Amino acid sequence: MKIILEKNKLSQFARNKKNLGFVPTMGGIHAGHISLITRSINECKKTIVSIFVNKQQFNNRKDFVKYPRVLKKDILKLKELKVDILYLPKEEDIYPDGYNKKIKISSFKKKLCGKFRKGHFEGVADVVDRFLKILNPNKIYFGEKDFQQLKILEDFIKKNHSYCKVIPCKTIRDKNGIACSTRNNLLSNKEKMIASKIIKLIRNNKYKLIKKKIKVNKIKNIIYSMKVKKIDYIEILNINKLIKPFKKVNKYKIFFAYYLNKTRLIDNI
Ligand code: PAJ
Repeated sequence: MKIILEKNKLSQFARNKKNLGFVPTMGGIHAGHISLITRSINECKKTIVSIFVNKQQFNNRKDFVKYPRVLKKDILKLKELKVDILYLPKEEDIYPDGYNKKIKISSFKKKLCGKFRKGHFEGVADVVDRFLKILNPNKIYFGEKDFQQLKILEDFIKKNHSYCKVIPCKTIRDKNGIACSTRNNLLSNKEKMIASKIIKLIRNNKYKLIKKKIKVNKIKNIIYSMKVKKIDYIEILNINKLIKPFKKVNKYKIFFAYYLNKTRLIDNI
């Protein structure tokens, strides 16, 4: 595995490459990231992984500062996977002229996490746009764990980088049902048990919630009784009606975001 720090070197490597796969991450590599990377390695001739904790997409400075950074461990894991290139950009290399505040993304940004994290999805789209301009990959891999991000980027990339195919990848969970996430490193064992109970509760009530046989508030109250202090949302949405063109068939998912102490977790089932 080659580690590249400068974007000029990276674009030289990527130039004229056919069947190039790209997996952008913020590091803290876990089984979820590994599933995307393995898929790219299996489907593409060369695979580039980036690790960049993108300050712009954090609406809260404290959250950015305490985001887990474990670069040495990440490098070992990526070497073992036989990734071709690890890109570790510097902030000034990615944003030489500051952020693009005018970036246009789908109105789906206004729902779910977008209501609670102002400017977050613009920050995500801006950094992905910059990566795509440097790399010109044929395929880019995103996880369904961050479903709203996946859908917004799918739409953005279709409109702005049509040569690049978005490959959605299933959510990977640990043995207790918790979706793997870099932020899980911030949880105590007790908090992990609560997270596991929450996913079971929502999974067991998924169809009742969709059919309105149980109220969202009832589920929220059960979660609050587990010593959860803050729930940003639990919402049932028809995923076929989120971004145009709408499909005729309805397909529902439950989206939820809540805090365990100061750690914000999101998931969907
Ligand atoms: P990060 O949270 O590091 O996630 C990188 C990729 O891994 C995303 O596409 C995310 O959806 C996927 N992923 C995370 N957990 C997963 C899981 N349990 N199962 C499957 N896939 C999972 O998402 C970001 O970074 C950033 O916003 C980024 C796209 C890199 C832009 O900065």
